Amino acid sequence: MEVVIVPDAAAQGEIVADAVVRLAGCKPDFVIGLATGSSPLAAYDAIVEHHRAGKVSFAAAQAFTLDEYVGLTEGHPESYHAVIERDFASRVDLPLTSLHCPDGRADDLERACAEYEDAMRRAGGVDLQILGIGTDGHIAFNEPGSSLASRTRMKTLTAQTRRDNARFFDGLADRVPRHCLTQGLGTIMEARHIMLLATGEGKSEAVRHLVEGAVSAMWPATVLQFHPRVTVLLDEPAASKLRLSDYYREAWEGKSLGA
Ligand code: GLP
Repeated sequence: MEVVIVPDAAAQGEIVADAVVRLAGCKPDFVIGLATGSSPLAAYDAIVEHHRAGKVSFAAAQAFTLDEYVGLTEGHPESYHAVIERDFASRVDLPLTSLHCPDGRADDLERACAEYEDAMRRAGGVDLQILGIGTDGHIAFNEPGSSLASRTRMKTLTAQTRRDNARFFDGLADRVPRHCLTQGLGTIMEARHIMLLATGEGKSEAVRHLVEGAVSAMWPATVLQFHPRVTVLLDEPAASKLRLSDYYREAWEGKSLGA
């Protein structure tokens, strides 16, 4: 795992945006995996800036989101489809038909999940996956206890995640849907490069497990330790519980200097 400790979310965003520009440069029809939540927002701003500067186009790209609530009304502003369209897709030249989200309103949810996996396969898989992490170590909506080999499926959200996400539903955890569709851990692991973003002290325990803990379904993000190409981008508070933080700083400095 490549661990990068930077001053703030803006610095994280620049690193992600540079990676997207590089990817688009060698593969214009690249496939990007998009995450919702507050963690990727600075990265989206930076990518949009590079897009406006003419450095990256999404015209031939495809995008896949990680997850979706089940049962929100059509056009609900907090559905992840609406969120990702607002925060990112509508700000670049990605054709709307190239934005794919699990369908949390489908009559047959199991089938919707299988079709989502098929669509990802047909697109050739995800080249670059942007990820956040929940305070309990979940990625996408793979809550503690998720199978490390899981595929896209329906999950029940934990009370903790519903509390964490209540801020998007007038502060009321009761209004947060109880179920979701989410890419599985096995699905996410197939992305060729994963960039995970975390800021703030609240994420430090999850980050400690992710980077230095034992691999366990109880901290689902730890499965990423098996992935050959993961970049973990942290600010100081999020990195504050890492035992080897000095080593990560030194390694990154060496890399920036071309060592
Ligand atoms: C939700 C999303 C995750 C996201 C997590 C953290 O549960 N399903 O994909 O990583 O929230 O969100 P935030 O970045 O706002 O802390």
